[in-house]
Amino acid sequence: MKNIKAIIFDAYGTLFDVNSAAEKCKDKIGDKWEGFANFWRTTQLEYTWLRSLMKRHKDFWQITEDSLDKSIKTYKIDPMMKNELLDLYKILSPYKEVHKVLTKLKEKNFKLAILSNGTPSLLDKLVKSNKLENLFDDIFSIEQVGIYKPDSKVYDMPINKYQIQKNEVAFLSANTWDVSGGGNYGYNSLWVNRNNSIFDKLDYLPKYQIKQLGELLDII
Ligand code: LAC
Repeated sequence: MKNIKAIIFDAYGTLFDVNSAAEKCKDKIGDKWEGFANFWRTTQLEYTWLRSLMKRHKDFWQITEDSLDKSIKTYKIDPMMKNELLDLYKILSPYKEVHKVLTKLKEKNFKLAILSNGTPSLLDKLVKSNKLENLFDDIFSIEQVGIYKPDSKVYDMPINKYQIQKNEVAFLSANTWDVSGGGNYGYNSLWVNRNNSIFDKLDYLPKYQIKQLGELLDII
């Protein structure tokens, strides 16, 4: 890819493993931990889209809690586990290659940023608890524009801040709909397909498909 000035990362599912909170409790939850984790994530995302359409914004932390309440009931998890799961969600683990890849990209002088649905304080904590705070130029939260991805106002944020063209951005997400959102907006979107998933039919095909972030170093 040529003429890339900024590399923008989605946070949840791309840099940080959203299933790691439930996985850390798998002894208590049992075999259903993964189904439960996926349901929690899907419900959380549905709530972001639905609230954006209904124009009834609640921040990502409240949505994470609301979707957890539904998931706990649906999967018949002990309600006493709620606080433990929420606390673990604040310190989700990054994927193992993240620190190394970001360090190498920073050496190449790209602008590096996170663009995420998360609240500023949630993202700040996530980055600091994983010692990644010195690697990013910016952490853009949708709270600055008050509507969730894939609204174009979200993808506008790095363009406005860096005063660059949309096609000077490489945007990485593991979420297929977010790849399409950023791609339809005008970014060069790359799909981090860690689990051999199927891409969506939303008018955009990723510029590249990679299995883990390290592959980006050969493309950029
Ligand atoms: C985010 C979600 C979409 O970080 O993963 O914005």
